Amino acid sequence: MWKGRFEEDTAQVVLKFTQSLDLDWRLYDHDIRGSIAHARMLGAVGILSGEEAARIEDGLNEIRREIRAGELKPSEQLEDVHMNVESRLIEILGPAGAKLHTGRSRNDQIATTIRLYLRDSFLDLQGALLLLLETFLDRAGKHQNVVISGYTHLQQAQPISLGHYWMAWFESFLRDCGRLEFALDSLDECPLGAGALAGSTLPLDREMTSKLLGFDHPTRNSLDTVAQRDYMADYHHFASLFAVHAARMAEDLIFYASQEFGWLKLPDSFCTGSSIMPQKKNPDVLELVRGKTGQVLGHMMDLLITLKGLPMTYDRDLQEDKRGLFASLETVKGVLEVMPPLIAKVDVDQEAARAGLEKGFSLALATDVAEYLVVKGIPFRDAHWKVGKLVKYCLEEKKRLTELTLAEWQEQIPEVQPDILEILGLEESVARRKTYGGTAFAQVAAQINQGEKRLLAKAKALEARRERLKTCTL
Ligand code: ARG
Repeated sequence: MWKGRFEEDTAQVVLKFTQSLDLDWRLYDHDIRGSIAHARMLGAVGILSGEEAARIEDGLNEIRREIRAGELKPSEQLEDVHMNVESRLIEILGPAGAKLHTGRSRNDQIATTIRLYLRDSFLDLQGALLLLLETFLDRAGKHQNVVISGYTHLQQAQPISLGHYWMAWFESFLRDCGRLEFALDSLDECPLGAGALAGSTLPLDREMTSKLLGFDHPTRNSLDTVAQRDYMADYHHFASLFAVHAARMAEDLIFYASQEFGWLKLPDSFCTGSSIMPQKKNPDVLELVRGKTGQVLGHMMDLLITLKGLPMTYDRDLQEDKRGLFASLETVKGVLEVMPPLIAKVDVDQEAARAGLEKGFSLALATDVAEYLVVKGIPFRDAHWKVGKLVKYCLEEKKRLTELTLAEWQEQIPEVQPDILEILGLEESVARRKTYGGTAFAQVAAQINQGEKRLLAKAKALEARRERLKTCTL
């Protein structure tokens, strides 16, 4: 299709090396949508006759059907999805088919196709993400009154509500939703009409193709249009943070389900056994969430490294932008398939959680005591010191804070009054952390309540995006 100026045939190894069908054949449907919009526009501005445009559209629909039915297979000789479709169109229509590529380059074509493909993929991902968020709300509701230990430095720190813990992940993944929305917005411009790089001498109606394809507006600079892949980088940014969140959470759950923690019950249907050790129940799914997500970070670097050395405008290196992109999409999709049903079935062995907490109990309420002293008028630093000494005393005497008599308390810290005994309970400790966003049961309930509303707003926003696209039926 571009061999007019060449004297030799392309070497076989070059065909094999430069073809991109392994990556872009899956884009055929979106590529055809872009072509139909282009053909309609060429008809509307009079570059094609109405009849030619209509025949091209019919031909493209027929090709779409052939590919779907597995009747049309791609040929490596034809390099990529674009030329495979176009060549089949010429086969079907003859000279009329040869007019489709008028005023278009594969450079603005691929930029359009991939944006259309990503738009659909991102909308699906967003739907799956919302499902995950719903699962967190559900678990948080179920576990809001369950007390577990919270950790810093993986050392028992303060007792918290397990509902509070789930809501922490709700926050992380809700931010991911926002980042995915950002990527959806940043791809929402139509490249068609940018041509190879500089636009066209033909009177193309860029507004029209943009509208037909459901984009917000045409891109504003043709050079930038064929050169940039920011919207992909925006996706990778979303995917990378999503991956980080998923991996960190998987790490937690693996820990909590281990015998040493022992209070988290993973569903059997999401665990695997050992081929040699009959007693084993392994958290392989979570390990693979942790294991696979590293590649997602790699794919982001891959794209950025490809982009950073590229001269303006289009360079063939850009063809490789899809490799990591598709791999990343597949991983994120896979993680989003297993996580919601797994988390939905996660449960708690409340006794084990209690026992685990009580091991560190003598220390876990130390901050509460220090803050109790603050309320009695002691400066926090002094209170911290006094309670530190008290903890040392408890460790030496092998006593818990709860086992000290009032006399002992007052001997160690004279400012202590009988009401100290009222604050020394795990539930009491949680319930008293009433600051906004804190772990108090009432606060967690409020977070869940608010979370439901925030999730609903995201679901509505997604629905509105889908609704807006309902009119593009190409
Ligand atoms: N397969 C190419 C890509 O994915 C399409 C554009 C090719 N353009 C070109 N001038 N060779 O980027």
